[in-house]
Amino acid sequence: MKNLVVFTGAGISAESGLQTFRDADGLWMGYNVYEVATPEGWKTNRNLVQDFYNQRRREVKKAQPNKAHKIIAQLQKDYHVQVITQNIDDLHERAGSENVIHLHGEIFKMKSDKDESLIYPVLDDIAVDAKAPDGGYLRPYVVWFGEAVPEMETAIAVLPDADIFVVVGTSLQVYPAAGILNYLSPGIPGFLIDKNPPDMQNSKGFKIIAKPATEGMEELLKHL
Ligand code: OAD
Repeated sequence: MKNLVVFTGAGISAESGLQTFRDADGLWMGYNVYEVATPEGWKTNRNLVQDFYNQRRREVKKAQPNKAHKIIAQLQKDYHVQVITQNIDDLHERAGSENVIHLHGEIFKMKSDKDESLIYPVLDDIAVDAKAPDGGYLRPYVVWFGEAVPEMETAIAVLPDADIFVVVGTSLQVYPAAGILNYLSPGIPGFLIDKNPPDMQNSKGFKIIAKPATEGMEELLKHL
């Protein structure tokens, strides 16, 4: 079976009712990214950070995978599919995708802010003073700006073997995540599905499908 690698961002979950970050109605229009998504923000105002991610968790719980997530899962019948997502939601998994790398963490996990190898499942709100057994505060299992992206190594390892590469719903503005495109074998078929596609992909020779993720994924099926 051919290896199909799908790289997703917030845009794939938009039609499930989850806000993106940089669109006009995106999360970073309503929140200061430095306050809620950096280690400094955590030190300064744990309350605000915890509240922000508690809200995200509640919203993800309510959301359902959409047609785009489902088509990606269905492609597993014909391809070896590896999903690399920047999303912290679990909609790929709930749609049935078996191989998902979360570059930026997972909303249904938390970790100690002292020993980050102490990871716990979390379904509900985290109390602002909740502590891990090592005495550290429990913080979201999310990669913040200024922090390392440990799953990059795993993602980079699968890219040279990709036979087909599909990008769905990401502005490609956040590094190192967006840099994974540089690890693809030259000349493999590439597709970019986005309601409002970022410019730079034209230079990679990707086929641009300028549509919402659900429609765009249906169209992709005609090209595969
Ligand atoms: P962005 O908000 O930067 O980009 C969302 C992309 O989705 C844009 O290109 C939109 O045009 C597109 N889009 C919006 N609605 C869509 C729809 N219905 N169908 C298809 N595309 C749609 O989100 P990301 O690129 O995922 O990181 O952001 C990357 C990272 O920045 C996130 O993982 C997050 C954020 O800060 C952390 O918090 C660490």
